[in-house]
Amino acid sequence: MTDKQRRIKALIHSIITYLRADRTLNHGVDLTLDKLEKIDLSDEQLVDIAPQGTRHDKVLKQAIDEIKYSKLQEIARCMALSKDDLEWREDSDQFYPADSDVGEGYRQCNLHSVLIGPDGCGYRHPNFSMGIFMLGPRTLYRDHNHLAPELYLNLSEKSGWRLGANEWRDYKAGSVIWIPSGANHATRVYDQPFISIWCWLEKVNSICKLVHFDDWAEIEHDLTQKSNQDFKYDFQ
Ligand SMILES: [Fe+2]
Repeated sequence: MTDKQRRIKALIHSIITYLRADRTLNHGVDLTLDKLEKIDLSDEQLVDIAPQGTRHDKVLKQAIDEIKYSKLQEIARCMALSKDDLEWREDSDQFYPADSDVGEGYRQCNLHSVLIGPDGCGYRHPNFSMGIFMLGPRTLYRDHNHLAPELYLNLSEKSGWRLGANEWRDYKAGSVIWIPSGANHATRVYDQPFISIWCWLEKVNSICKLVHFDDWAEIEHDLTQKSNQDFKYDFQ
């Protein structure tokens, strides 16, 4: 095993360890761990691919530096150590049909790295994905859905979520968001970048579909104009 593989493996295991501590508290975490337990994560299965950096490296570094919650420190440490070993990609119409109106914010700064998945830089799996997902500050990730059931582990101190047609709510670092297959969801990012662990449990080749909400322009305007403190919603 190379040092690079060792660092990527440590990151993956830090994520699984965090999720295990949350077991039975969240249905989605249970399902995710059930899937992970069936995947061969032995050292022999680790892939060895060339790293790929990103034009958003400064934002990414900031996002990792700002992971403050004590229970996430092992993930943050492993992520900082392995950041330059990973293959970073932007979604340039990979997940959405080309004419989708995903919004300027998303196009300007979205970033992910697949750790386990069809093109994972840790382990390969044809029908499960786990990775890191980041959005730049003051971004609305517009309402969308997909057939893949999805789990987010929020690493950032605060992120806003609209699940289904419910009100916007803010979630703390360490919180988990479970999105069943086909359920609508949107994310809004305040002053600091948003960073998370995300998993797609199956149907990993499904396409994302935008679901129009009339308040997109207003939210995007507010995100550029207001500071964090101006958004007053209950923390979950
Ligand atoms: Fe999603």
